[in-house]
Amino acid sequence: LSGRLHCYEGHPMSVVTYYVRVLRLLGVQNLVLTNAAGAVNEAFRPGDVMLVQDHIKLAPESPLTGEHLPEFGPMFFDMTRAYDPKLCALCRAAAEEAGIALKEGVYCYFAGPQYETPAEIRAARILGADAVGMSTVPEVIAAASCGVRTAALSLITNMAAGVTGAPLSGDEVIEQGYRSYGDMSTLVGVLVRSMGQSRFAGS
Ligand code: HPA
Repeated sequence: LSGRLHCYEGHPMSVVTYYVRVLRLLGVQNLVLTNAAGAVNEAFRPGDVMLVQDHIKLAPESPLTGEHLPEFGPMFFDMTRAYDPKLCALCRAAAEEAGIALKEGVYCYFAGPQYETPAEIRAARILGADAVGMSTVPEVIAAASCGVRTAALSLITNMAAGVTGAPLSGDEVIEQGYRSYGDMSTLVGVLVRSMGQSRFAGS
């Protein structure tokens, strides 16, 4: 899939994540999500790729609020393995094979579309975040609910608000994304090939 919907475009999370359920019905068992993110962890640099170990969602909305459809999993479901350990291990191995120094950390979801304030970034850091972004978490929740194994990779496009003191510009973040997506693209290529080779889909 190319592109996605975001809540900041005015869509509820249930709409943003609709495609995850469609994929499930088509028989998809493994989902690799990518995003652009700002670095909260000051050891990260633009161009780094971060494997998402876990997330923090401060926004109250959930894609699963509302009528329960049992065919997409239980009402109350586990999030301790939302970032599938085996799929994450495959990401680490793919990064090693591709010679990419993969970072790891916690992704904190903000609804946007405004970038965060410096105080929000300091708060996110205290809470344990390494990166911030405006996507991915709704899909991870929807995938966890219906049993689709998921891994997520963040391309660090900028240091988060307040980290360098410079103001954030959407255009610069997008430009930096285009300049530095090479490693991410290589990693996803190696990962997908290794998933096929390890017959991961059936395990
Ligand atoms: N904040 C939120 N979303 C983002 C950022 C950021 O700094 N960079 C890329 N997506």
